[in-house]
Amino acid sequence: MTPNHRGNFGSKLGAILAAAGSAVGLGNIWRFPYETGEHGGAAFILVYIGCVLLFGVPIMIAEFSIGRRSHANTARAFQKLAPGTPWRWVGRMGVLTGFLILGYYSVVAGWTLEYIVEAATNSFAGKGADDFIASFSQFTAHPWRPIVWMAAFLLATHFIVVKGVEKGIEKSAKIMMPALFILLLILAGCAVSLPGGGEGLEFLLKPDFSKVNGSVLLGAMGQAFFSLSIGMGCLCTYASYFRDDTNLPKTAFNVAIIDTSVAVLSGFIIFPAAFSVGILPDTGPGLVFVTLPNVFQQAFGNLPWLAVILSVMFYVLLALAALTSTISLHEVATAYLHEEFKLTRGKAARVVTAGCIVLGVLCSLSLGVGKEYTIAGMTLFDLFDFVTAKIMLPLGGFFIALFTGWYLDKRILREEISNRGTLKVQIYRLLVFLLKFIAPIGIAFIFINELGWL
Ligand code: PHE
Repeated sequence: MTPNHRGNFGSKLGAILAAAGSAVGLGNIWRFPYETGEHGGAAFILVYIGCVLLFGVPIMIAEFSIGRRSHANTARAFQKLAPGTPWRWVGRMGVLTGFLILGYYSVVAGWTLEYIVEAATNSFAGKGADDFIASFSQFTAHPWRPIVWMAAFLLATHFIVVKGVEKGIEKSAKIMMPALFILLLILAGCAVSLPGGGEGLEFLLKPDFSKVNGSVLLGAMGQAFFSLSIGMGCLCTYASYFRDDTNLPKTAFNVAIIDTSVAVLSGFIIFPAAFSVGILPDTGPGLVFVTLPNVFQQAFGNLPWLAVILSVMFYVLLALAALTSTISLHEVATAYLHEEFKLTRGKAARVVTAGCIVLGVLCSLSLGVGKEYTIAGMTLFDLFDFVTAKIMLPLGGFFIALFTGWYLDKRILREEISNRGTLKVQIYRLLVFLLKFIAPIGIAFIFINELGWL
């Protein structure tokens, strides 16, 4: 199949925006703050940044190279570059990982839709932190409301994926990203100036390294993989639509910088705001949803119309950021079913959407009526999050690093990152060193240290 049959991203900026659109999502604004909160703050952030630089960027460049070289879905990509070897299982595991992530991610994405409605009907007005905590847990435990939103979100994703690569993905990313960034800046300014916000800043900026243990390392590594969308062939699938003149290392750096800035910026909103109203930083997955309404209330309480406008804008942009991520997750499985099982794109997408709705229903119910059913002490929702972010993605990244570092013909890697010799790449040796040694050994160390493997 030639690249032209599969469609291409129309411009270099389009490629960066689409990859950044995949990376920036609930992982930055919902997951990063609560992981940071549960793991003690500033020291976690530093370990996180270390993981982004040592594992994240090199593995992203590796995925880009594999994807663009093979112009195929992830599973086929490994098969093309390593015919007749078990490496194809790395691609297949990625498809499964993406499918599982989409199952619980769309539950949280659905919550953002409920909050758009709450914000638009001004139902945050006059309430305090305790009310927000109570209404969040009531809503997420509701037997069908979150399920309806989850299904609506998946259907929206489905629609865009079926419409095709370039039109859907590129257009949404182009408008949403800058708008989201500006709004986050405004909100950070508001949160930092709240009374008592200084304590939150301290939590973010004063590292206490005595808190760094195995669980902090595993948490930071998992978060880096999750937030950058790496380890499951998602960016590999996107790169299969990149043009030949897209600069892969530069794109990876840009995506990592954008993604990390959005995450850290969210921290500057959430923690000052949480400390200001006495919400504990280790509140868990509800953290953003119970903290942010306070920011809108406290900062704009005497200008209710502004509170409504800004809060609606925020949740709409959060939903759009989640949408560009769910599109990328959906695309991995859809491209796989379409190209490997000869289903039409529409049919492949329908299978993925239906499967994810089933998973989403189970995950959503596990926060309410199914609360008592736990596996290894976790609800299904938490289990999906743990297994995918902390095990499957880093494991995928481990194998992708080994594949490009050791197995793949170095000529191929060099050609891809230099656009067949037309770009000067100074980082080639460093990249190979990181992929060969640092990433696999680092990931294995963190696994063994925390999970007691081997
Ligand atoms: N990176 C996305 C986010 O932060 C989630 C995601 C993970 C998307 C893996 C694709 C693949 O929200």
